[in-house]
Amino acid sequence: MTDTLSEARTITPVLSRLVTGGTCHTLEHVVGNTPTLWIPDIAAGTDRGFWAKLEGGNPGGIKDRSALYIVERARERGHLAPGAPIVESTSGTFGLGLALAGIVHGHPVTLVSDPGLEAPMRHLLAAYGARVVTVTEPHPAGGWQQARRLRVGELLAESPGAYCPDQYANPDNVAAYTSLATELAGQLGRIDVLVCAVGTGGHSAGTFRALRRFHPDLRLVGVDSVGSTIFGQPARHRFMRGLGSSIHPRNVDYAAFSEVHWVAPAEAVWACRRLAAMRYATGGWSVGAVALVASWLARTSPGHTRIAAVFPDGPHRYAETVFNDDYCAAHGLCGTPAADPDRIGHPTEREVTRWTRCANVLDPVGLPAVQGSVVPAVQGDAARGNSARGGVTQEAPVPGGPAPGGLPPGSPTPEGPEPGSPTLGDPAPGGSVSGGRR
Ligand SMILES: Cc1ncc(COP(=O)(O)O)c(C=O)c1O
Repeated sequence: MTDTLSEARTITPVLSRLVTGGTCHTLEHVVGNTPTLWIPDIAAGTDRGFWAKLEGGNPGGIKDRSALYIVERARERGHLAPGAPIVESTSGTFGLGLALAGIVHGHPVTLVSDPGLEAPMRHLLAAYGARVVTVTEPHPAGGWQQARRLRVGELLAESPGAYCPDQYANPDNVAAYTSLATELAGQLGRIDVLVCAVGTGGHSAGTFRALRRFHPDLRLVGVDSVGSTIFGQPARHRFMRGLGSSIHPRNVDYAAFSEVHWVAPAEAVWACRRLAAMRYATGGWSVGAVALVASWLARTSPGHTRIAAVFPDGPHRYAETVFNDDYCAAHGLCGTPAADPDRIGHPTEREVTRWTRCANVLDPVGLPAVQGSVVPAVQGDAARGNSARGGVTQEAPVPGGPAPGGLPPGSPTPEGPEPGSPTLGDPAPGGSVSGGRR
């Protein structure tokens, strides 16, 4: 029996005592105290593995923590008056959290999203009482994200007293994750490596900062999407929601990261499906991407290395995308990833289109654009026909693609399959919002 497996068995009885669930009289107490599950290497079948913090155990997902925390601090500081409206740009998970916080504290919630928001999520948000406003055109330079943020600014200007949490730059979106770190420390004891997806940068920065107080040698590994600008790559159309961005969110703590991995959507799909088949516990794009990277780290690090990865949500939102065979076949998302990531020495060395790592993590603001980039560096999600999907050895030619022009829910832009490479396992199908915080 290996070190890591025996470690898993030693910690598990402690876990079952710590994470017991409970009886809650108030809604906010159902947030947090999520379990941490041992995940064996999902790819090569080695006896290594990692610990996954299952944030899908929260009613809405990981962002329930930050939405509740941000709203509570804003009320305490007088930035959010009793009953005043909340307006925010979100691709979904934070919207669920805000809807919850709105119910807990009695605030109407307006969420600005784009046509990529999945219909079930839209319906769910409406059921929770949130108003969803959809922007119809991407911003020519900053993509859908910038278009959403500009619309938020307009809505704030129209409604005096309204409050924007601004999850991209609000430091409370970092501080909110102290609870997650404290739970992980209690559940696992020593942690050597923390693996987090990065969107606004909130949970990676906040969890790492708080955990580092217990473990000064802790390393943070960031997981981003191909086609995301966060770590210095050019903005392209992105399939994956949750992780990645077409702006430079100020909450990203660049200095904290030891390395970053960019993952392509087909690679994340493969990992989500492996997780489902092997461990039942699975989730969406960011969960798959994080699991792919954490598994690789487990395989390639010394045997005693204890790795914790954050799984931001569960699978249900992704039934018609990640877990839908027709969707995946139509969008070229079937296949098996390479055994190892590519490597670049500098984030702007070249554009990456498959799983790639870089141990030189820099704030991209002020860095030169990626060499050989054919599309202007801040083209955002509006960019079309670029390689944001690849990363797997395709099992079959990719039929069809979405209609040009719009962005149907979850729909990508077709582009050519990635070149083949050695494969793993079994194939399976910045700044504030204009108008500012109030
Ligand atoms: C499902 C999912 N995964 C990952 C992230 C990235 O987390 P963060 O914004 O804390 O960087 C988000 C953010 O919205 C998300 O919704």
